[in-house]
This record gives sequence, C-alpha cells and structure tokens, in this order.
Amino acid sequence: MEAKGGIELTLLHGAPLEAHVDLFAFTTFGDPSKDSIFKSVDSALGGVLADVAKSESFDGKTGQSIAVHTHGRIPAKRVLVVGGGSKNEFTNPHIRDVVATVAQAANKAGAASIGFLLPSFGANREPMLVQYAAEGVSLGTYKFGRYLTGEDHKRPMSLKSFGMFTDSKGKKPTAAQARAFTAAITRGSCVAQAVNHARDLINEPAAVITPSALAADAQAIAKKHKGAVSVTILDAKKCEELGMGMFLAVGKGSDQEPRFLHMTYKPAKKPKKKICFIGKGITFDSGGYSLKPSQAMEDMKVDMSGAAAVISAMDAIATLGSPNEIHAVAACCENLVSGRAYKLGDVLTSMDGTTVEINNTDAEGRLTLGDAITYARTKIEPDELFDFATLTGACIVALGPYTAGVMSDHESLVRGWLSVAERTGEDMWRLPLTARLREQLKSPIADMRNTGDRYGGALTAGLFLKTFAKDTPWVHVDIAGPASLTTTRPSQPKGGTGFAVATIVEYATKA
Ligand code: BES
Ligand code: MN
Ligand code: ZN
Repeated sequence: MEAKGGIELTLLHGAPLEAHVDLFAFTTFGDPSKDSIFKSVDSALGGVLADVAKSESFDGKTGQSIAVHTHGRIPAKRVLVVGGGSKNEFTNPHIRDVVATVAQAANKAGAASIGFLLPSFGANREPMLVQYAAEGVSLGTYKFGRYLTGEDHKRPMSLKSFGMFTDSKGKKPTAAQARAFTAAITRGSCVAQAVNHARDLINEPAAVITPSALAADAQAIAKKHKGAVSVTILDAKKCEELGMGMFLAVGKGSDQEPRFLHMTYKPAKKPKKKICFIGKGITFDSGGYSLKPSQAMEDMKVDMSGAAAVISAMDAIATLGSPNEIHAVAACCENLVSGRAYKLGDVLTSMDGTTVEINNTDAEGRLTLGDAITYARTKIEPDELFDFATLTGACIVALGPYTAGVMSDHESLVRGWLSVAERTGEDMWRLPLTARLREQLKSPIADMRNTGDRYGGALTAGLFLKTFAKDTPWVHVDIAGPASLTTTRPSQPKGGTGFAVATIVEYATKA
C-alpha cells in the first residue's frame, strides 16, 4: 500500500524495540516517568531518554517531542517521543497530528524507515487509529511546492516506509485483525489522497483553476473510475435552457466560461439511498461591483473549496465503494467586474422561478448554490442533500476560523451528519435557521433580495438557500473559516485544508 509520494505503509509485528528502522517513534501521555513504554525504551537506552526529557522539560504535552540517537543500544538509529497530551482527551483523529509530526521529523533527519508504536486504547479503537495514522502520513508530508524554485524545495523526501506496531508486546494480530488493519490503511491513504487533491485545487491560483479546469478534473476522476463514475458538464447554453438565471448572472462578468458539474457514482447493487453533495465553485470572488477591498480579496481563489471537496471526495468514494448512489454537483464560475457583469438592483430569475433582487453582488455564492440546489432537487431527487460553501465572513465571526457552521431543519439528518464529523475530527457546530430573520430578505420589487443585515449574516445566507431546498432533507455547511487557514498544525500546512472531504467520504461510504 502506498501513500502519495511513494511512502509505503505497513504493519509490523515482533518486539517494537527490536525493529531495524531509521526511526522508532511512540507517544507519551503526560509525565514520562509514569509511562510504562517510555520507561522500557529509556532503560533499553541506558537512561538517556529520561535525561533528555528532563533537560528539555518534556512532559508529554501535545506539540512536544524529543529525539535521541541510539548509538547501537537498540537496532533503531533514532528514537522519537511525541507528546500526546492527556490520555483521556486523546480522540482517534488526534493521531493524525502525532503521526504527521513523526513523518516530518523523519524527513528532517533524512530517515527512510519509521517504526511507529500505536498508542494502546483497546482493540475497539485500533482500526480507526490505524486509519487516521495512515492519513497522518500523507497529510503531514503534503506540500504545495509547484511554484517554489529553490534547491531545498526540490529535494525529494527521505521517508520511504512507515511501519506500525499495533501491539506493544509484539503479539501477532489475528487474521481478522490483520484484515481490518489492512483495510484501515487502504482507507486512510485513500482519504488523505483525496484531501490532498482538494488542497491542490484550492492552493492553485485562480488563473489555473478556472471553471473549465474543475470540469476537466471531474472528467479525469470519472475516467479513472470508468463504469462506476460518470460526469455531465453543462455549459452556459445548457444552463440557460434550464433557466439557471442566478448562476449565470454571477458568471457573466468573467471571460472564463461557467461550467456546471454533475458527477454520479453508482454502486453495483441497488443503492440504499441517493445522496447529493453540492460544493460552492466560485473560482475567484472579487465581490463584483460590491467590490472587496484588496486584503479581503487576496485569498479569494479559495472560494471553490466546497467544489474541490465534493469533486475530490468522489475519487475516494469510488475507490472505496459505497452502498449508496452518490452525486457531486458544483456550479462553477468567477465573480468579476466588467461591462457584462451583473449589477446591484438587477432582478434575477432562478431555476425554480423565484425572482431575486440583488442588493450585494458579493453575496454571489448563495445565487450559484440556489440554482445548484434546484437542479439537485428536481433532476436528481436525492434522499439527502448537503451543500459545502465558503459562504459568509459572518460564520467566521461567529465560530472562529477552525469550525464550520452547520444549518438544517432536518433533525435526524443533521444529527447523523454531526456525529460522523465528530468521528472524523472535523470541527462542525450547528447554527439555527432563525425564521424571524427571513424578514430581512424581503424585497419591494422581487420575491426576495439576496442579502440581509450584517448581524446574523451566516443565518440569512442559510435561510436564502433553504428557499430552494424546500422539503428535500438538506444540510448546509458553511466552511468559510476552515477551508483555508493561515495557522498550521502538523497534519495541516498553511493554505487549503481539504476540509469536509474526510467527513463526506465517511458519510457516503458508511451511512
Ligand atoms: N466568499 C465570500 C465569503 C468568505 C469570506 C469566504 C472570507 C472565505 C473567507 C462570500 O462570497 C462573501 O463575499 N460573503 C459576504 C456576504 C455579504 C455580502 C452578505 C461576506 O461574508 O461579507
Ligand atoms: Mn462574495
Ligand atoms: Zn464568495
């Protein structure tokens, strides 16, 4: 099994301390002098580990790590101890950052092989830990380096193989366990590759990732999964015929032609349910005539993060297989200024016939999504509909940069979604669709206007979308904050994060 970049992922058996690897790594939770694994490794190394821990004030906290050379005391050349924080608070997804730290340390030290001892949380949690550890390897070695020309950026990674011990006593797993671990490794590396692919799409400049480029990407994924995944690309003329007046208006100011993408995954057997994931696909958001100030516009190539997530997730879903029929939809265009651009005061007619007066051309996402939702509702008729959108700055104000806002009136659907997000470790929090705020979307000359007041901006955007979802069980996920970050953690460098891919894949393949 290989992660992208050619890192082989394996399961190791036998005594961890006898592993012939360049780097042996394990996790310590809190005070190392109370940790049995730390103590046994320390005694094998003649006490140097405890010495270094003391001199570097290592006390097993998250983000801390110590490394020592073994000088032949054990077969491994180096030992790395990564702090895991409090063992009670350590959830399965936390292993991604631990493993990412290990993989980065290996590359820094020029190590080619790692033996990692998985922390023990009981047999129940092991397959998930193995999956997320596998994810951590790819996520932690991700780098968007295409445009860096310096020598040090061209150096290939030293890390070639990442081996995991699932049992500190070196016991061989049963055949069933081994099968579960192998499946978990495949799953983890597949999910992480999709996340990294979404990161690439987000990090590429808008000059490269145009609506047509996203369409080509969807086509490439369909080609890779011929027979299981198909794709339909609608051009402006086709969208016009379908009456997508809101989507087309947003794209009118750009020389880049709009593209409406619809990918379908069909399982071999009769599908359990039909699920549709919509992603916002604004490849650049200047704000239009409600122009953004330069600083706010600077990162607006990321406004297609929702589309990147649903497109990339389809690749993993098709590889892993799903009992459900899965659809991915993205209305892709650029929001620019020109003699053809839509204007404030324009009245647009949406695909479902609703008329919308424009009072802010920077509230473009809800217009493109509104038509995408109508398309999904009427042409796909899914049992469950989700949308992912870098929709509002207000959502970032409400929840901070790391948490997505989740809005829905469908109790069981939203609960199911949030429980999957909790399992995958993607931070999501429910916000209300406060009915009274609907008043703010009233227009004197049309059925609706596209924005309300500043306060509650994430919710009025949600209410706007709800108009188009109607009775279809629907969940709206505002990912404006977590889609792209300026702060890092080991499994997540600056820039596009690939947020939502992991939860979409988990939901689509297991629910
Ligand atoms: N794409 C932006 C939202 C956004 C902001 C995404 C920051 C990522 C980071 C969206 O199209 C937008 O401009 N929203 C406006 C809505 C307003 C005009 C009602 C906003 O949030 O200011
Ligand atoms: Mn905007
Ligand atoms: Zn936008």
